[in-house]
Amino acid sequence: MEIGDSRTVDDGRRRVLKTLANGGMALASGALHASKPLGETAASSDTGMLRRPVPSSGDSIAAVGLGTYESFDVVDAASSALEAVLARFVALGGELVDSSPMYGHSEAVIGELAARLGVRNRLFLATKVWTRGHAEGVRQMETSFSRLRTMRLELMQVHNLVDWRVHLPTLREWRNQGRIRHVGVTHYHASAYREVEAVLRAEKPDFLQINYSMAEREAEARLLPLAQDLGIAVIVNRPFAKASLFSQVRGQPLPAWAAEFDCASWAQFFLKFILAQPAVSCVIPATSKQPHLEDNLAAGRGRLPDARQRARMVETLART
Ligand SMILES: NC(=O)c1ccc[n+]([C@@H]2O[C@H](COP(=O)([O-])OP(=O)(O)OC[C@H]3O[C@@H](n4cnc5c(N)ncnc54)[C@H](OP(=O)(O)O)[C@@H]3O)[C@@H](O)[C@H]2O)c1
Repeated sequence: MEIGDSRTVDDGRRRVLKTLANGGMALASGALHASKPLGETAASSDTGMLRRPVPSSGDSIAAVGLGTYESFDVVDAASSALEAVLARFVALGGELVDSSPMYGHSEAVIGELAARLGVRNRLFLATKVWTRGHAEGVRQMETSFSRLRTMRLELMQVHNLVDWRVHLPTLREWRNQGRIRHVGVTHYHASAYREVEAVLRAEKPDFLQINYSMAEREAEARLLPLAQDLGIAVIVNRPFAKASLFSQVRGQPLPAWAAEFDCASWAQFFLKFILAQPAVSCVIPATSKQPHLEDNLAAGRGRLPDARQRARMVETLART
């Protein structure tokens, strides 16, 4: 699958190579988005990034993506460090970038930087509709296309289920027209899981985006298995419970046995715990810092913890 507008692929690729060469990083050939699903635990051959399937479309996506809430809400994108962050994200095999009209300047910043870097075709762009009413929903989504500078989006989600009965029919219509490739719903809090579950059963969207982390494990009980049963791809938000997990382990050494599943940092510890869930297609940590971005994407490479190791991870965190 081409995930963007194919006209600009070669241009984009040339510009990315240049940007990366400036940063001393060569981009391996053939790094454009894979055209076929690679299976549940297949890794991209060039970056080593784990890929996971999107059951409804047969696509596959890189298992570590990028959240943009607050981190990409800047007024002057050109003079921020975010251009280097996005370039590095693509170079390391990242694809899914998640935004929303709720996130201030984030959509416009992603659109501007993707155009400057020429990487639009390498991204799996996800945003949301976050308003009430059909006309206002359409207006808001048209604005998102314009801010993201694209004719087509890989994923449009109903943010926090706001007015989902009104928006989902529009999203399906636009999917039929080819304007969006996938339809999704999101939430961030366990108090909404009952409604989320009902929507998954009744509407069977392509994607569910939900909070799940070592600090917020409620989705394990019903939502993750249900999504897997229904063939709904899962995006995990708040993977660090908004950085609170880092506060919990501050000053504590990473256990030596984390190396058994190729884990070299606490960030990778938290992300690999999530990726070990087979229901999860993609986890979207947010950062505006390149070292953190590199740390996070490394969680998509190497081995994942098995059930015994995950139990040990839980015990370790409980003792901190
Ligand atoms: N309802 C919804 O649809 C919904 C709700 C919540 C979130 N989301 C999506 O999910 C994304 C992620 O959730 P979130 O932003 O709430 O929280 P999060 O990803 O759990 O945490 C982000 C925090 O972690 C820090 N961080 C990131 N990588 C780090 C690393 N390697 N080492 C140390 N600190 C690190 C970031 O700070 P630095 O910038 O300093 O790295 C930031 O403070 C959002 O950006 C958004 O796209 C959607």
